[in-house]
Amino acid sequence: FEFTPANLAWAEGQISKYPEGRQASAIIPLLWRAQEQHGWLTRPAIEYVAGMLGMAYIRALEVATFYFMFQLQPVGSIANIQICGTTSCMICGAEDLIAVCQELIAKQPHTVSADGKFSWEEVECLGACSNAPMAQIGKDYYEDLTPEKLRDLIARFSAGEVPVPGPQNGRYASEPV
Ligand code: FES
Repeated sequence: FEFTPANLAWAEGQISKYPEGRQASAIIPLLWRAQEQHGWLTRPAIEYVAGMLGMAYIRALEVATFYFMFQLQPVGSIANIQICGTTSCMICGAEDLIAVCQELIAKQPHTVSADGKFSWEEVECLGACSNAPMAQIGKDYYEDLTPEKLRDLIARFSAGEVPVPGPQNGRYASEPV
């Protein structure tokens, strides 16, 4: 693995923001850019980023495994679906959403669907508890989900649409009451 020339220039710009000896502070943006370039973080990608920052591979791996924004295995070409399974979402039906993912994508999390389009996993609280249950699909939040809504979203993503994120029950919290 190595960055494209454009990503390499961007990474060097990130590193230059930090004082000499503190280059490791750029670990998260560099891992993120490596993931965006390749789709997920391979061991060579983590080693490459660690090498750029003068860090031991294990230190970079510790960061990559701590945050579930980082994927250490292949993900679907359209989206990795992250179902929040923490208290509010669990009480409001996260298990039913997981059942939809198991049926439509793959029985096991971190597994790419047969058509290559999706993968899924259960994650901890994504901070949208008031709109539980919810999921992050790609980079956006889809909230106030039901199994039917999630089925519909997966079908629409699969067809090439990008459904409007946010609450899926017609409630937009930012609108005046
Ligand atoms: Fe699901 Fe917080 S518990 S977003």
